[in-house]
Amino acid sequence: MTRVAVFPGSFDPMTNAHLDVARRASGLFDRLVIGVLNNPKKRPLFDVGERVSLIEHCVVDLGEHVSVEAFDGLTVEFARRQEAGFIVRGLRAVSDFEAELQMALTNRKLAPEIDTTFLMTALEYGYVSSSLAKEVARFGGDVTEMLPAPVAAALADRLSEGPRV
Ligand code: PNS
Repeated sequence: MTRVAVFPGSFDPMTNAHLDVARRASGLFDRLVIGVLNNPKKRPLFDVGERVSLIEHCVVDLGEHVSVEAFDGLTVEFARRQEAGFIVRGLRAVSDFEAELQMALTNRKLAPEIDTTFLMTALEYGYVSSSLAKEVARFGGDVTEMLPAPVAAALADRLSEGPRV
């Protein structure tokens, strides 16, 4: 049996916590598709194409069974299109749990054939989030421990362009 999982998220941008979860999941599933949500309601710092290519850079060493795709709409529909039986989400701390439980139960209601699996982020990345990394970088702080090197470089470049109107 081929085990296929999707790992959905906003990834604006991918952090070391995300990468850690992707690495762990890549060892558990025969195929892992990292799904980058194209959410028209949000104004991301990186557009969806930029987010996809940054992630592709970061996961290149995880193997050919790992791919990255943009998606719109419901995560479960994306999972069905990928013929995935699993959704992967990372948990950093207890504070993530409530929202993740709600999402997992909603997704189960929508697609009972798909199970959500949670992977604990490595302890050293338990505090890392995309929004905190952006804030730290914006004020000139060091984000090298929070972000993969290509992401940190892209973020520095983006912020050097000045505020977006
Ligand atoms: O990286 P994030 O922002 O925590 O990811 C959240 C994401 C993209 C997984 C979630 O917002 C999502 O699944 N959005 C797609 C819409 C959807 O399926 N909603 C119902 C599930 S709650």
